[in-house]
Amino acid sequence: MSKKAQIKAVRGMNDILPGESALWQTVESVCASVFAQYNYRQIRTPVIESTHLFSRSIGADTDIVSKEMYTFEDRNGDSLTLRPEGTASTVRAGIENGLFYNQQQRLWYVGPMFRHERPQKGRYRQFHQIGVECYGWSSADIEAEVLAMVQQVFQRLGLQRTELQINSLGDSTARSQYRSALVEFLSGNVDQLDDDSKNRLATNPLRILDSKNQSVQALLGDAPSILDYLSDESAAKFADLQAYLTALEIPFTINPRLVRGLDYYNDTVFEWINPEFGAQSTVCGGGRYDGMVEQLGGQATPGFGFGMGLERLIQILQEQNAEIAQQQPHPDVFVVSVGEQARSQAIVLQKSMVNAGVCVQCHMGDGSMKNQFKRADKSGATIAVVLGEDEVAAGAATIKPLRGSPGESGGPAAQQTIAQIDVANVVTNLLESL
Ligand code: HAM
Repeated sequence: MSKKAQIKAVRGMNDILPGESALWQTVESVCASVFAQYNYRQIRTPVIESTHLFSRSIGADTDIVSKEMYTFEDRNGDSLTLRPEGTASTVRAGIENGLFYNQQQRLWYVGPMFRHERPQKGRYRQFHQIGVECYGWSSADIEAEVLAMVQQVFQRLGLQRTELQINSLGDSTARSQYRSALVEFLSGNVDQLDDDSKNRLATNPLRILDSKNQSVQALLGDAPSILDYLSDESAAKFADLQAYLTALEIPFTINPRLVRGLDYYNDTVFEWINPEFGAQSTVCGGGRYDGMVEQLGGQATPGFGFGMGLERLIQILQEQNAEIAQQQPHPDVFVVSVGEQARSQAIVLQKSMVNAGVCVQCHMGDGSMKNQFKRADKSGATIAVVLGEDEVAAGAATIKPLRGSPGESGGPAAQQTIAQIDVANVVTNLLESL
């Protein structure tokens, strides 16, 4: 008999297993509650979009569009793409549903994104972002609000040593003047550029600022700075942002070499970086994109937002905050039952306790009392509800505290046998008192 080949997950795409999903839920619910406190509303867009959406907004010369998109033709011959990020989809949905007509919007989203990158720690082909997008404000106060939310999320999660870097890319005039100056400077030092940077010199020279190559980095120390090319208006807005951040006590550094991997930004860009995390140290990145709504066919509306990489955030949390990372849910009650009749009573009792708000796990199938108690203990349950032969015959159940109890000797409180009809009440009261 031939051994069947095992089917594995696609490279760079991960399962989130039960041991980790509680931490994912914690992170997602902390974000959701912070966003709700700032009155942001969730938007859910499809995972697949028309390919043009991304090529028109993210930029044809970016790595994302030129080599990382999962693009395919569907059965009608339409070119579709698995979304590589959430901003373009949010703008598309906003235009299509009239969210921008003289309105201001504060939106957030969460979900999987897809990029065909070379997988390594912190970089995957399917990854998850929680993102925020705001529409209708061109001033820096909204930028400060959004950055304050990110800081609040990090603080509630106990994330440490994550630093905010900011920069301004100015308007399109500033960028094109700066681009010429940078190209001129780098062309005069082309022998110090690696192959990748040489290629970018013609296509996307600002991305060279992001190079990890040491000799390129050394050269960039003498390169012109974008901040010297800002218009008065851009410079004033950037100064406003710094003043707001100072008022909010959010520490930041200005990094004039901070450029982003997507072409749609103007003025403010930022990244939150965790230096301990090596090459993939950016946990959260974003900025202002005032041209995108109009570019995609809507009425001109300023935009600002961020995307936070959940895999990266969760990996850092696992390294920094063992307490939150190890929290695992466990049932309040484990129902031990022996015999056919007991089983049926067990699931009826489970239903009544669940109705009362208790988390209940029933033993399923056969099994000796001793084995079931071992499982009850392993489950982490606080209380066992026992349905043995005597209990079943009497329409009763025995409530047995398993841990953390007010018993006089410091051990578990005494067990008690009660009518089944009273179980949900007694268990609820007992759980409150433990
Ligand atoms: P991005 O910098 O491409 O920006 O991605 C945001 C974050 O997603 C990154 O900082 C990183 O944490 C995470 N991330 C990106 N690629 C991967 C990957 N391959 N594996 C794991 N994590 C990854 C955007 O996507 C923009 N849409 C952000 C934005 C929103 N700008 C304005 N609004």
